[in-house]
Amino acid sequence: METGMLHLHNILRWVIIVLLLVTIYQAFAKKQAIKSSSLWLMITAHTMLLIGLYQLLLGRYGILNTSLPEGVSLMKSSFFRFYWVEHPLLMFAAIALITVARGRAKVLNYKSAGWLLLSALIFIIVAVPWPFRGESIGRHLFPGM
Ligand code: HEM
Repeated sequence: METGMLHLHNILRWVIIVLLLVTIYQAFAKKQAIKSSSLWLMITAHTMLLIGLYQLLLGRYGILNTSLPEGVSLMKSSFFRFYWVEHPLLMFAAIALITVARGRAKVLNYKSAGWLLLSALIFIIVAVPWPFRGESIGRHLFPGM
């Protein structure tokens, strides 16, 4: 179950990025279809939030079942700082922006939705553990690789 959750979390990242790109295009091109794409984006983002919370609390490095190694402090370990603080906080912020943007998209406030979604995309690009982030933080582009 744990591996399944991690794989789902990994693959849904691509769904969110593609949906974000489509929705941002629709916002700046003022397309009414933004009403449904922003809804799908929000549903996917909230699903990601639930899976992320599960991983953060109960996953293989979950806060509730992992103790920091002797002599390691949270903010001084790049691994724990990333997975327990930076990644969750930036992703929370991105999901909040996506949620507010959905409200704006619903009433066809295109410009506001567009800027909010663009900010969310930047947060996500910054906070994803891309392979180039190094051996301890970096993860594969696709699950099970
Ligand atoms: C749009 C939102 C998010 C994206 C795009 C995202 C993306 C990712 C990716 C690509 C991984 C690596 C998966 C792998 O190793 O195969 C990951 C791991 C992780 N994410 Fe997220 N994430 C998001 C939201 C969250 C949130 C909100 C939380 C916490 C509340 C969270 C907690 C974690 C944790 C703890 C891991 C490490 C799990 C492990 O190695 O066992 N994520 N995330």
